Amino acid sequence: MSSRHLLSIRDLTSEDAITLLDSASAFWELSRRSIKKAPTLRGKTIINLFFENSTRTRTSFELAGKRLSADVINISVQSSSAKKGESLRDTVATLDAMHPDVCVIRHGASGAPGFVAERVNAAVVNAGDGLHEHPTQALLDAFTIRQAKGDLEGLKIAICGDVAHSRVARSGTLLFQKLGASVRLAGPRTMLPPQPESLGAEVFDRIEPALEGADVVMMLRIQQERLAGTYFATLREYAREFGLNSTRLELAKRDAIVMHPGPLNRGIEINDDVADSDRAVILNQVEAGVAVRMAVLYRLAGGGEARL
Ligand code: NCD
Repeated sequence: MSSRHLLSIRDLTSEDAITLLDSASAFWELSRRSIKKAPTLRGKTIINLFFENSTRTRTSFELAGKRLSADVINISVQSSSAKKGESLRDTVATLDAMHPDVCVIRHGASGAPGFVAERVNAAVVNAGDGLHEHPTQALLDAFTIRQAKGDLEGLKIAICGDVAHSRVARSGTLLFQKLGASVRLAGPRTMLPPQPESLGAEVFDRIEPALEGADVVMMLRIQQERLAGTYFATLREYAREFGLNSTRLELAKRDAIVMHPGPLNRGIEINDDVADSDRAVILNQVEAGVAVRMAVLYRLAGGGEARL
């Protein structure tokens, strides 16, 4: 991998991404064994530093490190000195003085992991920064798509909902295009990014044309915690206009898969009849999350061949 850190999908060439996804397959197998541990990162230290809430990402990074036998420390803002007014710079300098090999960071400010990466010796992984990027989510989504479809080349991927506030949409769009898919972004006009052309995707202000003939439908959560103003009249109206239900899903290909990064707002962006159907690969995404994060940690902290 050309970069020492994983801050953005822009840090990866398509070859880097494919190599990571291929090695994630071996880690995916490992997680299905009864003994889910390899000695690969014995003696390495990983710090997970989470300034924002998380269930999936945090748990999967922790499991990923532990399954590779690294020493894993989890710090959440609720219990750190950041609560006492310590600056991000001082927090990370303090942690870096303890010689971690990898620092995984989630932060509400776009660019925070990049700021940290310039100031520490550890390799830094962005686990989601503000409205900017969430590269390991894009990798786990690509892994899940590859599992279902074999390859991303030529696929039509619709990403629908609150695109403007979604780091998942941004990282996903960049990675899926790198891997040969075409991406459609759909959402209410107020939830489309200001310069969608810069992402190279097709953009729609209705969900139906984005769904037509799609191979993959990815629904996004309404980012209620990030919505400074009013972006739609009511949640009911949003659900009516943009929610995915089984009738709407008929517009997509018959074998289209449905994805969601979680957490789900059931009845808003996705209905139970879709979320609980066999078209949904939402839990496969969660499973892929552990495998892909093992591949990333292994890459940044390990080097060499994977020993399983
Ligand atoms: C996403 C995130 O935090 O960006 N969730 C996740 O990592 N699984 C998406 C979201 O919160 O909507």
